[in-house]
Order: sequence, then C-alpha cells, then structure tokens
Amino acid sequence: MTTDRLMALDLLVSVLAAAAWAGAGAAAAARRPRTAAALMAGAMVASLARAGSVLALAGAGWWFVQEKVTVALPLLLTASVVAAVTAGPRLLAASHAASAAGRDAVGSPAVVVPLLGAGYAAAAGPVQTFLLGYPAEPGSALILLAVVAGAVLVTWRAMAPRVPLLRAATAATVAAALAGGVLTFLPATTAGATTPGAALGATTSEAATAEAASPGGGVLGDGAPAAAAPAADAPAEGGHDMRGHAASAQMSAQTSTQMSAPGRPVTDFRGPAEPAPGGTVRRFTLTARTATVTLSSGRKVAAWTFDGQVPGPPITATQGDLVEVRLRNADITEGVTLHWHGYDVPSGEDGVPGLTQEAVPPGGEFVYRFLAAQTGTYWYHTHEVSDIGVRMGLYGMFVVAPKGSATTGVDLTLPVHTFAGTTVAGDHDQPILQGVAPGTPVRLRLVNTDNTPHRFTLAGTVYRLVAVDGADLSGPGPLSRAGLRLPAGGRYDLAFTMPSGPVVLRADDRTEVVRLTATANGTGHASETDAPGTQHTSDNATDAGDAAAAAGWPELDLTRYGTPAPTPYTSRSRFDRRFTLVLDRGLALGDGLPIYAHTINGRAYPHVPTQVVREGDLVRLTVVNRGRDTHPWHLHGHRVLVLARDGRAPTGSPLWLDTFDVRPGEVWEVAFRAGNPGLWMNHCHNLSHADLGMMLHLAYEGVTTPFHGGHGG
Ligand code: C2O
Ligand code: CU
Repeated sequence: MTTDRLMALDLLVSVLAAAAWAGAGAAAAARRPRTAAALMAGAMVASLARAGSVLALAGAGWWFVQEKVTVALPLLLTASVVAAVTAGPRLLAASHAASAAGRDAVGSPAVVVPLLGAGYAAAAGPVQTFLLGYPAEPGSALILLAVVAGAVLVTWRAMAPRVPLLRAATAATVAAALAGGVLTFLPATTAGATTPGAALGATTSEAATAEAASPGGGVLGDGAPAAAAPAADAPAEGGHDMRGHAASAQMSAQTSTQMSAPGRPVTDFRGPAEPAPGGTVRRFTLTARTATVTLSSGRKVAAWTFDGQVPGPPITATQGDLVEVRLRNADITEGVTLHWHGYDVPSGEDGVPGLTQEAVPPGGEFVYRFLAAQTGTYWYHTHEVSDIGVRMGLYGMFVVAPKGSATTGVDLTLPVHTFAGTTVAGDHDQPILQGVAPGTPVRLRLVNTDNTPHRFTLAGTVYRLVAVDGADLSGPGPLSRAGLRLPAGGRYDLAFTMPSGPVVLRADDRTEVVRLTATANGTGHASETDAPGTQHTSDNATDAGDAAAAAGWPELDLTRYGTPAPTPYTSRSRFDRRFTLVLDRGLALGDGLPIYAHTINGRAYPHVPTQVVREGDLVRLTVVNRGRDTHPWHLHGHRVLVLARDGRAPTGSPLWLDTFDVRPGEVWEVAFRAGNPGLWMNHCHNLSHADLGMMLHLAYEGVTTPFHGGHGG
C-alpha cells in the first residue's frame, strides 16, 4: 500500500475508534448494555487496528508517525485499557443481568466516564494530526492532554455529585495546560519578535527550536527504503564540523554564525555588462498593466498583463547572448517583479521582492540583465503577490536556443493556464489549429503556469519527451499512449516528425490544446509512428479523435524514462549539508497571526528557519509530504538532481529539475551544488500554498539583503 493510502487508512481507523468509544459511552448512559458492549468490542478492534496502521506507516518513515507514536497512540492505548478494565466487566455483567436494577448499573459514572474518556483520547489523535501535525512538540502535547483530562473531569462532574480528588485533578490539568501554553507560545513570541529583515541571519533561536524538534532519524522507519537514508543521515550531520560549525542535526546549518562574516549585499550579485564572445545583447521592455484581453474565441477577460497581452511577450535568446529586460509598472498597485523561473540568474536579478529588490511600484522600473547560459524552455512571472499576480496573467515564456542551432520545422510554446475557469494555451481558449507538412520536425513546449498539475496526452503520433524543465533528457525513447503529468511551474518539450494524419494535444483529458493537420506538400520523410521499440504504455489504439481512449492512458513515470548518464554527483557522494523539509498542514504563526498554514517542519513563513549554505557545498535536500495536498517544490537559482523518490533512484535519464511534484506520502531526495551565491526562495509552487506559509529562504553565508527581508509571495 502507498504511504498516501496508509495515511488515509490510519485516519479512518482513528475516527472509527473515537466514534465507537464515544458511542459505547453514550449507549451505556442510555442504559443499553448490549449496544454498549458491542460498540466497546468494535472500539477495541479499531484501537488495535490504529496501532497496526501506525506501525505500517512507521515503515514509510519517522516523519509519518512521529506525533502518533509519541502522543496519540500511547494516549489511545492507555485510555482503551483503562476503559476495558473498569467498564468492561460491569458492562458484561449488565448485559446478562435479568433485573432492571442490574441493567441500570450500566449507566453509572464508573462505566460511562471511562468509555467516553477513551472516546476523547481517541479523538485527540486526528485533532493532533490536523491541527498540529509535524513535528510533535511537548507544549502542544501537554495542551492536548489537558484538554482530554479536562473533558473527562467535566463529564465525570456532570454525572456524579462527588468526584474523588476533583480539586487536585483540576489543578493538575490547569497546570499542564499552562505549561503547554508557555512551551508553545514562548518560542513563537520570540520568533515573532524577530523582524523579517533579521530573519535571514538572526533566526538562531528559532533554528535551535527547530533543531531540537527536527527528525532524529529513522527511529521506527529502518524497514523502508525511504526511511533508511534519513536513519543513516542523522549521525553524519557533523560532517562539516571541520569548518568550525556547531553541527549536530539536520537544521544545524541555521545555527551557524553566518552573519559574523562581513556581509556582501545580494544587490552585488548582478549580471554582466557584455554578452559572451559571439553573443549579442537582446533588449526588451515589458510594461506591467491591467488590461482587458481578448481570447481567441472573442471572450474578454480582465487581466494583469505585460504589454497588454497574456501571456506577456515571449523573451527569446541564443546561448551566449546578454538578456536585458527593462520592467516598467504602469498601474499594478500591488507592485511587480520579474522572476526567471528555472533560470539560474545571479541572485540580484532573481526578482524576489523584499529579498533581492523592492517590488516595482506604479511608475517605477527595474532593469534585469543576465547571460543566457542555459538553453531550453523557461518562463518568467511576477513574484510580488504572485498567487494573484500570476493567476491574473503576469507571466510569459522565456526560451533560449542552443548556439548555432538553425530553426527548422514547427516550434510551438504552449503556456497552459486557467483563466476565469477556462484552460487556455497562450491566449487560445479554443484549440490551436495548424497545418503542418508531413515530415516536418515539430517541437511542443508545454509550460504549466497554474498552481496544480496538468495531465497532457499527445495522440496521433509517436513522440519523444526530449527535455524537462529546460534540461535535455538522456536517451528519451519513443512514446505513445502515455499520460504526461506536468507539475505546476514545470516544462516538458515534446518532439516528433509530423505524420500523415492529425496530431492532437489534450490537457486533462478534455481540453483540446493543439490540433495539427497534415497539409498536402509533404516532404515524404518517414514518420516515427511505426518505429520499432516504441514505449507503448497501454494497448489502446492511437487515435487522434478519441479523447476517451486517451483518458485511460497510463501516466509516464519520469524516473524510468530514458537512459542513464553520468552525473557530477550521486546519492553516494559526500554531502556538506543535508536539509529535511517535512510538508504538512497545521496551526502555525504566519506573518503576525496564527493561521491554518501549509507548514514546513511545523512552521510557516516567515518563521521557517533559513537554510544556510557555503559556496561550493554539495547539498542534499529531502522533501517529505505528510499532508493531503500535492506540493510542487521549487528552489530558485539552482537546478536539482533527483537522487530518489520513495527510496528508489531513477533508472532512466538523470533528472535535473527546478520543480518537482511531491505528492501525498512521497519522499524526494534531491541534490544540488551551491554554486550560485546569493539569497534564494525555496518554496511550494502552488502559489496559494506559498502564500499560506510554505516557503523559506536558502542563504549563502555572508550574503545580506538591504531590503526588509520579508517576502509577500
Ligand atoms: Cu516560479 Cu518562486 O517561482
Ligand atoms: Cu504546496
């Protein structure tokens, strides 16, 4: 069973256990001994099942069971045993009692209170999972215990005029709640007092807290591949001690004294003034402004645009060129920036408001300048109020051609976006129709500019997925009848030779994005449609007209596609830093107030400790999703190499990604070389999640920001 399913099962049995215990208590109170006994038997089974599901989850890693093992399960099992021992015999006697008096005994506090108490204790499990999540901290555990104890006392007092030791028990409960409150809110207040500007350097107290609560390694998770690595990781954390760090655990890097060195402002890290030899300067001006745009159907939508169009004007260059983009803001009152998604520009050109620049206000401007070093498909978007800004249209394509390449054939860039409920590609809310001569090379560049993944199918031809996130794959084999799931922010380049029949690209099995029809003047090249060795992922007929068949095509597993190739580092390399990000939901302090956040290690931005690296470090990043949402993880300024997903290394092409979908229950291990000094965002590219706390900074030691340091998403 997948971890995701196990998490759902665990939730189901915990709710069942709580309902059955509480139901048994209610039935006893209603003097129905048989019903109560039956429910109690069910409750005991559900409680045992919960223990089983927790053990099974432990196999997937400590992150997935931590709060269950330390708090929820002990509480549930203790309360279950107490209820079984105290209420059980009385309940059984009453079920067999002939007299009414015997049956009445079942409604006594001695039976009802332990049963209801077990119900409260069982309910504490899901409450903790939903509200508090990872990591389990002593403060919140104490509060939870106090709430359960308080509920038991109130129930008891309501049923009986005299409760033994009521005063002492009440005092102990209140004391536990107060202690829990102090433990929980004191660190939070200290963190809150940290100004955002200082958050980059002065988060030592927060970091220390997080360190204490950070995963200690695979305490219970040694059995599973996913957990094996972290179990081995923890002791190795002292690895960079030779550099004088007080390193002891995964978060240790935050406690380093990165601000003791004289700082170099992030604004020093700018692009060059000249292109590479042989390159030219490509100048663009983009003006951000509100506009009503007309989609291909004639439908008009209110949008935030670059130059009045959505998507914004395409920015193109050839490798070695100098790209210079002047951003102006006409009337976007929230402010605007340009972020080069997936493009490893110098930090000062990265377009993160409050971190690498101030957002450009109406009337203002900012000039970005960087060398077009990487080739491939990228996109740009605003990073100020980016959830709304990108949704409203502040994005465009950025494509860099390899040096010396001549454009041949058909090359379509297809940013897929949801506009007021409709899926559009570029500004088309209807299929893009194009005639192509058979034999023509075709390249489709798919970009997902939405917050959630899109599933694409290409029907009518055999094709290859030649590049992901701008990086060429090694040995991409022929594909047909495959579903391609593109994460939010990600890009896929598909290539094929136009066959003699129509070719149809669909999104999400319903929207026809592109329909290419063969024109008469074919060149007579053989198409790949019947190429031997085609990777058919199902047996359905390839039929461009059949959307229903395409809906059934299985999803391509990228980690098994293409052929292996050497990489500069592997999972066996010696890493200078290791970071673990456990993604979840829970109550956390946001920008001032507690929110129901999308959390990282139990924290929400700006209270997630900054990851600190040194230039040249080899960094290993583990991203764990213990929640119920998909999180497209995106690190600025660096492309990461996938080492493993759920403990399994890719068997196909190496995967160099800038955005990877961490689905519920998944554990991704990725690595990157810290070779682009500066201050960087590291966040979920579901921008509404980022807005609700799911982001943090990656900072190179000694780099400072003259801006406020907080970033509004
Ligand atoms: Cu495409 Cu920080 O974003
Ligand atoms: Cu997310």
